[in-house]
Amino acid sequence: MKVQLTSPLDMHLHLRQDDMLKKVAPFSAKYFSGALIMPNTIPPITTKELLLEYKKAILDATKDFTFTPYMSLFFQNYDKKFLQEIKNEIVSIKLYPAGITTNSQNGVSKIDIDEIGDTLQAMSELEIVLNIHGESNGFVMDREKEFLPIYEVLAQNFPKLKIVMEHITTKESATLLEKYDNLYATITLHHLFITLDDVAGGLLRPHLFCKPIAKRPEDKEALLHLALNAHPKVMFGSDSAPHPKSKKEAPGCAAGVFSAPVILPLLAQLFEKHNKLENLQAFISDNAQKIYNITPPKKVIALEKKAMQIKNEYEGIVPFMAGETIEWSVQ
Ligand code: DOR
Ligand code: ZN
Repeated sequence: MKVQLTSPLDMHLHLRQDDMLKKVAPFSAKYFSGALIMPNTIPPITTKELLLEYKKAILDATKDFTFTPYMSLFFQNYDKKFLQEIKNEIVSIKLYPAGITTNSQNGVSKIDIDEIGDTLQAMSELEIVLNIHGESNGFVMDREKEFLPIYEVLAQNFPKLKIVMEHITTKESATLLEKYDNLYATITLHHLFITLDDVAGGLLRPHLFCKPIAKRPEDKEALLHLALNAHPKVMFGSDSAPHPKSKKEAPGCAAGVFSAPVILPLLAQLFEKHNKLENLQAFISDNAQKIYNITPPKKVIALEKKAMQIKNEYEGIVPFMAGETIEWSVQ
């Protein structure tokens, strides 16, 4: 059995900087035709200079491949003039609540219209997409649910602004998606495979620890329903977030799952298992092209149902499902 995917897109990717960037970027650039690059670098991407410098570093690290980095700015209040000047270099701006995850200290501490409404209005007028890491500071299992009222306020007040609920993990988010035309969502690979039980139900598995934390079986089912049917408002976004093994296998484990090298075979396996292979193209590329109004370079990836063992690590970074044998591979 085989499947061909045209121009796969990863609409939520952490590539990091320097040596880590050089190590991890080729895994995405080899299999994907483009990706939305997250701006939670050190320092975060908040100026045109930082953005262009980062884009150049990514292009250097991926020069052997056909790969388009779609760039995102780190949300702060920006004036419209600045946004006009940078509009052609970015597709979106990513909003992090302050301190909610890796390198988000400079995020927004009060997400309300009085504080950030002018920037959102300018984004809406300039057709710049807003990506949000939607979690409150509450109890870890409830953070995403507690954030949903904020999505509602933003969606209602800025009906022309496209808002992407990043890496959704709950059935409540899946439901909210239907309520507003301007809400969209990304779903990761790992949240389609694991629940909190896999992270902490037996021996603790640090390589599955991420933000938002994986939730309950019924939440995973709701995400599967959206992804397997390639709901038109849903896109694939891996949130592949590499950390060195020493930072994962540590008393204070960094949040993030490194999935970049194994995404397409695992998605093919999952969609085939549910008899939905014909929907994978829309989930992995077509929906994102429409939502973001982008045309990535053409790249065809052929996958076949042939067993493959995932490596234990890639230069000190442990991938999702390390050491496991999976059913599909890239041809
Ligand atoms: O688990 C995560 N890791 N979630 C995020 O939102 C950020 C990411 C990272 O940058 O490491
Ligand atoms: Zn992320």
